[in-house]
Amino acid sequence: MASYSEKQANGKGEKHHELVCVTGAGGFIGSWVVKALLLHGYRVRGTARDPADHKNAHLLTLEGAQERLALCRADLLDRDNLCSVFSGCHGVFHVASPISETDPELMVVAVEGTRNVINAAADAGARRVVFTSSYGAVHMDPNRSPDTVVDETCWSDYDFCKETGNMYCCSKIMAEITAKEEAANRGLDLAVVVPSMTIGPALQPKLNLGIAFINRYLTGAKKTCPNAVAGYTDVRDVARAHVVVYERPDARGRYLCMGAVLHRAHFLQLLRDLFPQYPITDKREDDGKPMAKPYRFSNQRLRDLGLEFTPLKESLYDMVVSLQQHGHLPLVPGPDGPRL
Ligand SMILES: NC(=O)c1ccc[n+]([C@@H]2O[C@H](COP(=O)([O-])OP(=O)(O)OC[C@H]3O[C@@H](n4cnc5c(N)ncnc54)[C@H](OP(=O)(O)O)[C@@H]3O)[C@@H](O)[C@H]2O)c1
Repeated sequence: MASYSEKQANGKGEKHHELVCVTGAGGFIGSWVVKALLLHGYRVRGTARDPADHKNAHLLTLEGAQERLALCRADLLDRDNLCSVFSGCHGVFHVASPISETDPELMVVAVEGTRNVINAAADAGARRVVFTSSYGAVHMDPNRSPDTVVDETCWSDYDFCKETGNMYCCSKIMAEITAKEEAANRGLDLAVVVPSMTIGPALQPKLNLGIAFINRYLTGAKKTCPNAVAGYTDVRDVARAHVVVYERPDARGRYLCMGAVLHRAHFLQLLRDLFPQYPITDKREDDGKPMAKPYRFSNQRLRDLGLEFTPLKESLYDMVVSLQQHGHLPLVPGPDGPRL
């Protein structure tokens, strides 16, 4: 199996040394985007609300970080601050976003923060912005026909998301629309990466919400499995997608980054097959409805740019190993070793 560095560099010997900025650099996806950009030879400015916090220290140990990574403080609600942070940057990757259903600042930071990022990028003379959206802005549509192939043309229904308390999805819908409108107003190139539920190994020590949720199944804290279908993608593919759409001058609009769609029960079965030593539940919640069916989807736009998706089993395996390494899961030996 090729290492991430080998796959990432993909035979490219050239070094760009172009300066780019990544907002939310210390998060799960942000960290892998920074790593991918460093491996591609970029000089990277990574933003965080508190760059000195030890939760960001892993960034400084990445290959190339000593020479080409600088961390700086940025406030998404302060356009002047963003403008100085983006000064000299050719491109901006806007990854940061509040990920919470209850944060009172959720909408304002997601939407006004995105407006500020796009305008500050334009003011600072950046040529291109890559915005990280979410499939929460794509798949939440109760009226979608079961025959629909979910792709970049699909949008979640804002009112449905609001009525069902999915304010995070509302924030991503509105942030993505804002990014598109502001970039068009300012004549800025924009490409949007739309990841589904993102799994795989974590570079950062503090668990993000999604992986923390999966970890609850592995520790046995979560006792039942809902009757639900979800899309999954590997964090390394999400990072590669960001770099690919940045580097292709003809890349425009949305790119759905989703490698697999499956029922949660099937997802947990795969985890149990790989790691039978953990108490992963096989009990289903009975919601009285027939078993939800996986929907069809297309990730062809990213494939057309040369992106290859990591097999789900590999993502799951690497994710669990990383949870063990970071001390979030006890290291329990399996009956006969790894089952990849
Ligand atoms: N993980 C997934 O399954 C998934 C799926 C689809 C899309 N996404 C999108 O991917 C992006 C990164 O998500 P992630 O999973 O990597 O989450 P994460 O690890 O929690 O990282 C979120 C980042 O956003 C920053 N942030 C949060 N609230 C902020 C605020 N109020 N002001 C400024 N910065 C703030 C954080 O920066 P600080 O260091 O300053 O705290 C952090 O670096 C988000 O845009 C998310 O919507 C994630």
